Amino acid sequence: MARFIDELKRTHSCGELREQHIGEEAVLFGWVQNRRDHGGCIFIDLRDRDGLTQVVFDPETTDEQAFRAAEKARSEWVLGVRGKVRDRGAKDDGTSLRNPRLATGAIEMIAHEATVFNKAETPPFEIEDQISTGEDKRLEYRYLDLRRPSLQKNLVMRSKLNHEARNYFHENGFLEVETPFMVRYTPGGARNFLVPSRLYGGHFYSLAESPQLYKQLLMCAGYDKYYQIVRCFRDEDLRIDRQPEFTQIDVEMSFINQDDLFEVLEGLVFRLWNEVLGVDLRELYPEARFPRLGFAESMERFGNDKPDMRFQMEHVDLTDLTIEHGGGGIGMLEPIAKKFSDGIYRRDLPTEIVKAMVVPAGHGFSRKDLDALEKYVRQMGAKGLARAKVDGEGNWLQSPLAKMVTAEFRAAVNDAVGAKDGDLILFQFGPAPKVHTVMANLRIHVARRLGLIPETGSGGEWNFLWVVDPPLFERNEEKKRWEAAHHVFTRPHDECIELLTTDPGNVLCYRYDLVLNGFEIAGGSIRLHDPEVQKKVFEVIGLSDEEAREKFGFLLDALTFGAPPHGGIAFGMDRVAMLAAETESIRDVIAFPKTQRANDLMTGAPSRVDPEQLLDLKIKTLE
Ligand code: AMO
Repeated sequence: MARFIDELKRTHSCGELREQHIGEEAVLFGWVQNRRDHGGCIFIDLRDRDGLTQVVFDPETTDEQAFRAAEKARSEWVLGVRGKVRDRGAKDDGTSLRNPRLATGAIEMIAHEATVFNKAETPPFEIEDQISTGEDKRLEYRYLDLRRPSLQKNLVMRSKLNHEARNYFHENGFLEVETPFMVRYTPGGARNFLVPSRLYGGHFYSLAESPQLYKQLLMCAGYDKYYQIVRCFRDEDLRIDRQPEFTQIDVEMSFINQDDLFEVLEGLVFRLWNEVLGVDLRELYPEARFPRLGFAESMERFGNDKPDMRFQMEHVDLTDLTIEHGGGGIGMLEPIAKKFSDGIYRRDLPTEIVKAMVVPAGHGFSRKDLDALEKYVRQMGAKGLARAKVDGEGNWLQSPLAKMVTAEFRAAVNDAVGAKDGDLILFQFGPAPKVHTVMANLRIHVARRLGLIPETGSGGEWNFLWVVDPPLFERNEEKKRWEAAHHVFTRPHDECIELLTTDPGNVLCYRYDLVLNGFEIAGGSIRLHDPEVQKKVFEVIGLSDEEAREKFGFLLDALTFGAPPHGGIAFGMDRVAMLAAETESIRDVIAFPKTQRANDLMTGAPSRVDPEQLLDLKIKTLE
């Protein structure tokens, strides 16, 4: 029987020992973080996921075999040590040897007995938080990367988030129900990953992009108050806050309205922040509710539906002013103004718009900086970046617009945007979606340059916001048709139902997103359970009865057998964890993430498979 593990059980973790343990015996198991030979005594910092303990091997007190093991030990060797906890003491001159930066810094363990469980190769990078090793290398050796305290801290936090979320939902009478990952493929939404069926050659399952249809079916089945911490799969272009497989806290409830649902979610967020981050959000939101912003207003003021409201630099829509001034002498704006006055464009529909944003005086942008800004917007497909510096008299300087603009239009613009001496006005005009996107990104880019938002993380600021009441349909100008802006089973506002036949572009719906510091952390909707209205919605998007049946037959059927009014939401757990951990990448809160190019550098997935396997599946690949 082995002495360590079988006989000597671990008594504490490596991060656990404190002053009150002084004088006690302890058994620790862990990895060698580092080893220092102080001529005579050997000091080893022993590490596990809970922390570090300094272990002293003293030839006077440590058994000989253990001392020899300590002499040989190197970084990342796995040891077991039995010893006594003692005060770190003081130097001869009285200065304390305690390390206040370390949780276990008051004590050390004097080793009596030790064993080497395993040796280790020299790791390809140091297991420390401050490392400069590229992420690819770290992902290739993820099990080593995961030994670093910062990643351990993130995963511990994630585990607590899950745990608290489960507690919260169970205390509030929710039921956790699992739904299938391998589902029928339904077109629309995100691109799906496909899973070939061996039994039905040429047929495929699709990996569920979310449990959406199933949770609605659960409501139809009477399983009110459902939640699930669930993996979702989407074959999308990846970004800093996106992964091909990610985790949602998925929620659905019956007999509720939007406000009821918000209350449940707000309760969850307050609870998570309180219990996991130790942040009392009541100091920021005394009513325990988050503010709401209409979608249209969000687009107008910030150019997107996930505004970061920790700083100003809001957009100002100058389209009406441009129409009023017939373009204000600016050649590029005149055709837009004319299209409106000729009635070709309608102001209530997304056509072309003119927007501006003021960068406050003291920005310190040189001409070179502005050229770089222009390059930045061109990368997003903008034609250029019209701009003007404003002086004390309201003149426009350093701007090709200065020569063209009429004095009246200039004064009106200055007034509308509130420009003062030294301010810089940035303009965009053209098709609304592009102008919004460019201006929204520009606002964040400039704010970051000016130090208005931290490069990474929240800087301890938590800005929550519900974005509500978006349009139900989006115009696809290319195909000249209306498309569902989100989910075709989203309930329109009652007062908009008539517009379904007359003016679909202005139908608003009960869809909502929860935004935190400019990231969409949750999204959902109140569902459409009325077959009559559902039919009208399908008509608007040109979906025939047959096509609708082909796509969602099972849900349509379910809705005819007594479907309760219902609605739900899904929380992006990885994003929430990323923001809560104040880290810059979603990969830092996922144990085994994929790269930006969707591969797993450690296992080499995706990989080729045996031709025989393909034959079984009746699949031929093209080179
Ligand atoms: P939605 O598609 O808005 O809604 O997703 C909900 C939340 O999931 C997160 N999220 C992602 N996180 C990481 N990587 C991704 N690729 C990714 N995609 C989405 C976001 C988002 O807010 N079934 C609906 C919910 C509902 O209507 O109830 C849904 O999935 O934080």
